[in-house]
Amino acid sequence: MTDHTGIREHRQQGGATARKSAAPAKLAFPMQAGAGGRIALPALPYAEDALAPVISRETIGFHYAKHHKGYVDKLNKLLEGSPYAEMALERIIQATAKDGSKAAIFDNSAQTWNHWFFWLSLSPHGGGRPDGRLARKIEEDFGDFESLVNELTQAAVGQFGSGWAWLVHDNGKLRVTKTSNADTPIAHGLTPLLALDVWEHAYYLDYQNRRADYVAAVIDRLLAWEFAQQNMPA
Ligand code: FE2
Repeated sequence: MTDHTGIREHRQQGGATARKSAAPAKLAFPMQAGAGGRIALPALPYAEDALAPVISRETIGFHYAKHHKGYVDKLNKLLEGSPYAEMALERIIQATAKDGSKAAIFDNSAQTWNHWFFWLSLSPHGGGRPDGRLARKIEEDFGDFESLVNELTQAAVGQFGSGWAWLVHDNGKLRVTKTSNADTPIAHGLTPLLALDVWEHAYYLDYQNRRADYVAAVIDRLLAWEFAQQNMPA
């Protein structure tokens, strides 16, 4: 079965849903309390210039305060008076992912979630290599760290048009995947560990058409491996 996001649903023989968990077990989008279910734009976890020179203050400024905020604002308008108004964001995403008539709510809720997760996937102190349990799991599932970097790079650079590259936990294994437009692993029962935004708005001011340079710099210098480790299921 293919839903409107274009990704095949993962189902076992006999039609049983293969994965029941959808949201990361240890991390949930911070819903604003006491605001009638309205969704607030989460604070950026660092200053707008903290990721420079890999990502400039100007890019972060537009990306966060225009693009991310734009998704949140549109979503709040769409949720007014809808059956989704009081749901956690992850539930809204899951409830609308397979319903093409709810594509606008899905797109804006998924982009609200994806960008929040993306900001946390980057750190001014990021880059380098993971250690501990995550490093051992990467060796087990990819062979070595360089193979993971190669796969992640290929997914990010090879994504045709707008979308995302991800490191995910999938039924006990780590793997790399990519999604188009607003689509998100949590709509497919996967647990994201890291996200990489490859929409042009993420890099065009700094890198113009050179997406590969942006991807290489972010992987080398900004990816927050500690965050990825925190998102690993026990
Ligand atoms: Fe973006």
